[in-house]
Amino acid sequence: MAAAAVLRSIPILMTFLMLLEQFALSHSQVENQFIFNGFNGANPHHNGIAEIQPNGLLQLTNTSKRQIGRAFFPFPLEFNNSSSNISDSLSFSANFVFAIVPEETDPIGGHAIAFIIAPTMELTGAISNQYLGLFNSSSNGLSSNHVFAIELDTVQSPEFGDINGDHVGIDVNNLRSLESAPTAYFVEDEGQNRSLELLNGNPMQLWIDSRKWTSC
Ligand SMILES: *[C@@H]1O[C@H](CO)[C@@H](O)[C@H](O)[C@H]1NC(C)=O
Ligand SMILES: *[C@@H]1O[C@H](CO)[C@@H](O)[C@H](O)[C@H]1NC(C)=O
Ligand SMILES: *[C@@H]1O[C@H](CO)[C@@H](O)[C@H](O)[C@H]1NC(C)=O
Ligand SMILES: *[C@@H]1O[C@H](CO)[C@@H](O)[C@H](O)[C@H]1NC(C)=O
Ligand SMILES: *[C@@H]1O[C@H](CO)[C@@H](O)[C@H](O)[C@H]1NC(C)=O
Ligand SMILES: *[C@@H]1O[C@H](CO)[C@@H](O)[C@H](O)[C@H]1NC(C)=O
Repeated sequence: MAAAAVLRSIPILMTFLMLLEQFALSHSQVENQFIFNGFNGANPHHNGIAEIQPNGLLQLTNTSKRQIGRAFFPFPLEFNNSSSNISDSLSFSANFVFAIVPEETDPIGGHAIAFIIAPTMELTGAISNQYLGLFNSSSNGLSSNHVFAIELDTVQSPEFGDINGDHVGIDVNNLRSLESAPTAYFVEDEGQNRSLELLNGNPMQLWIDSRKWTSC
């Protein structure tokens, strides 16, 4: 089975540009490390409406509504599942810079961006909007999906128990997140967290470090 790293987004009601500036994912094994400083010449596998801009930015979606854009690292990642210690064998670290850009004339964006690890680059049957281009109403929640996702969701979807409009969630085969938290940043002077709106047009950096996994 092929594992692939994926970035994907879905616009729902309106629009936004999603720009991915830089993407780096490194597997725990040295030979599985890779870094992209822009995507010119990197040639990730992309589908849906994703495009690589002349300046090297990966644009996942544009202002067209209810569209899906995805980009995958073009080779399978090999997770060593023969290790007896699952934390060791399935750990990885990923880090990328992205921006979710509101449309000038209509600041309602949609829907989310997600980092995923999946056994396929096609995800047939997946739909946009609250399904994030990952699943549909009948496939959501199936253990046969084998999809792990970190969602950066800008819209609250009550059917998946979303906690609010702007949150980060850990998803295994299901858009009902195993864990989620409101997006926020820590202000040192004040010693407190301030909530962060994801649809803000600014570059933001996401780190994903996995230490403990169950199989998915
Ligand atoms: C969005 O991208 C798709 C695919 O390239 C294109 O067909 C569509 O016209 C674009 N929409 C806008 C509003 O630019
Ligand atoms: C490792 O994964 C492969 C492919 O999914 C599977 O055939 C094999 O049984 C797995 N090995 C262990 C020890 O889980
Ligand atoms: C996979 O894990 C096993 C057990 O820890 C180890 O012996 C083996 O060398 C690992 N394989 C690779 C390709 O790292
Ligand atoms: C498994 O690996 C993790 C991370 O390297 C380590 O913290 C943990 O102690 C290991 N567990 C066992 C049972 O060896
Ligand atoms: C959902 O996707 C699966 C493929 O994963 C497809 O077989 C099924 O027909 C789709 N169902 C709906 C309701 O679109
Ligand atoms: C800020 O948020 C982090 C992550 O959710 C949490 O661990 C921490 O306790 C929060 N700090 C305060 C002062 O609320």
